[in-house]
Amino acid sequence: MSALSGRKILVGVSGGIAAYKTAQLIRLLRGADAEVRVVMTRAAEQFITPMTLQALSGQSVRQSLFDPAHEAAMGHIELARWADLILVAPASADCMARMAAGMADDLLTTICLASEVPIALAPAMNQGMWRNRATAQNVRTLTQRDVRMWGPAEGDQACGETGPGRMLEPEQLLHLVQESFSRGSAAGLRVLLTAGPTREPIDPVRYLSNRSSGKMGFALARAFSAQGAEVTLISGPVTLATPAGIRRIDVETALEMEAAVMARVENCDIFIGCAAVADYRPALAVDQKIKKLTQRRSIELVRNPDILATVAARPKPPFTVGFAAETERPVEYAQEKRKAKGVDMIAANLVAAAEGGFERDENSLIVLWEGGRRDLPMTDKPHLARLLVTQVLLNYEKKHSTEDT
Ligand code: C5P
Repeated sequence: MSALSGRKILVGVSGGIAAYKTAQLIRLLRGADAEVRVVMTRAAEQFITPMTLQALSGQSVRQSLFDPAHEAAMGHIELARWADLILVAPASADCMARMAAGMADDLLTTICLASEVPIALAPAMNQGMWRNRATAQNVRTLTQRDVRMWGPAEGDQACGETGPGRMLEPEQLLHLVQESFSRGSAAGLRVLLTAGPTREPIDPVRYLSNRSSGKMGFALARAFSAQGAEVTLISGPVTLATPAGIRRIDVETALEMEAAVMARVENCDIFIGCAAVADYRPALAVDQKIKKLTQRRSIELVRNPDILATVAARPKPPFTVGFAAETERPVEYAQEKRKAKGVDMIAANLVAAAEGGFERDENSLIVLWEGGRRDLPMTDKPHLARLLVTQVLLNYEKKHSTEDT
């Protein structure tokens, strides 16, 4: 299987003579099994035809922000979310300036502004334009925002001058795309996740539980698996299908979930506690159905073990990630929780708020770690899971590179 198998690359083409090389780049990407969609600026059409790029990408080429037919099929926001990587090649001085200014005055810049995925630019322009202080400042601005600059190379230019400003060759760009996926990838990592609610029996027909649907945990399992991780998902009772290629272990109670986790945690690299584990269980689960003999009745509850904290307290813990569903002050409470449980990262969200949380298909998260924070926008859970996985892998790599040195 190719390193780019199933990867979704959005290739942006802005106006420059180097656009003819983008045709070859698209061929190479598709040859490496990537899915490619192309967005062109108006100026790009002066250098290469949409028809050429459509034939090579196998998809209709998008040009306009205001194209009802295309917007109905896949809107520009959907397109921004579809991509795993956006590569603008060639990136003209004008395109870079508009991006640096945060403008969204055409389809390509709108997608770049709306997207949360990595963006790489392959600059191509006259050497004087590249050296101009305005361009240099735009490059600095974009780099500070984590936009990757691939190139330019030095050499003879189409305008007859010599200097920096040549777009990298398609083979070099393909290599950089491949490298960018292998760096952030989870290939070879063993990920253990908990998901869904737990059920704490009161008697043979009744239980205590909560509203967790398991959707976020399942989306995370799928997102890690798509990055090449070996995923084991320990799930409470949910009505979701098992994602392909994932080992799933079904449990009901917190104690069963704890036992299933402890049996497998030894060999895992990353542990994600996404389950809404019941904090308490009935002290006694009686064998027979409880009869309504009295007007009042109380159930004595005892604390359940904290699975996440137990994992984090192991002598050699995996990289641990927890969730904090809060009804108020999410950052403050989640940060306290992260420290109290000793976990590496925590993802906080507001529940019982109109905007997200349990049982819903969308959510937003505030991800916190020691000295860092990233706000992930309100979006569908599969997309949110991909964004969270990217951040987890970055932090995991950072922790390991500092441990290794
Ligand atoms: O303390 P709180 O329940 O808010 O913490 C939530 C985080 O801790 C989640 O990541 C959840 O999966 C984990 N947790 C756990 N075991 C418990 C309670 C919570 O693993 N008994």
